[in-house]
Amino acid sequence: MNQDKKQRVAQAAMEFVEDDMVVGVGTGSTVNCFIDELAAIKHRIEGAVASSVATAERLKQRNVPLLSLNSVNGLPVYIDGADEATRHLQLIKGGGGALTREKIAAAASDRFICIVDDTKMVDVLGAFPLPVEVIPMAQSYVAREMLKSGGQPVLRQGFTTDNGNVILDVHNLSIINPVELEQKINEITGVVTNGLFAKRRADALLIADDNQVIKLTA
Ligand code: A5P
Repeated sequence: MNQDKKQRVAQAAMEFVEDDMVVGVGTGSTVNCFIDELAAIKHRIEGAVASSVATAERLKQRNVPLLSLNSVNGLPVYIDGADEATRHLQLIKGGGGALTREKIAAAASDRFICIVDDTKMVDVLGAFPLPVEVIPMAQSYVAREMLKSGGQPVLRQGFTTDNGNVILDVHNLSIINPVELEQKINEITGVVTNGLFAKRRADALLIADDNQVIKLTA
């Protein structure tokens, strides 16, 4: 059932892909469906910029031309999934650990299109533990700072990000003001970034339910 929703929302995202475009590609199982759609029209696009090693590998396997973000003049469009989303187009991302490169791609994009199924929709962000990418040396310090903010940080065991860092998954945060919390956590020394996409939220959110794909725009 969920796989069907992922496929339908991935198909719907193709509306935003135009001929000769450079397409930014996120990470995760929903985006994997989008990669299959993109591969079907790979000769019509200039190429794709990947937000993770896993996505780069998948694009390569399907012979989609791969470009580095530094070789292009921004991204006209960036398509990615989310772990939680609100009707205000604010997100929690990073369940797959690719949050930093995803945030860079979103920042560099003209249009950030988020694709989810309806199980990801929430009224208030934070039931999904907030991923925070941390420089390994700062892990204990950042964890203590997160405790002061009322969250319970848990080290993601056996996981290293594509950037060589660790992830703290922070439980029980009450995210009433996502923009403020995003900024506050990013100000802790040793934090690379956190999985709140609130300041740079999505420009459009495509939500697949059992019957249709709904589009919300900023
Ligand atoms: C990857 O780090 C995440 O931000 C993903 O975008 C998010 O976890 C969504 O993944 P799924 O589409 O697999 O739920």
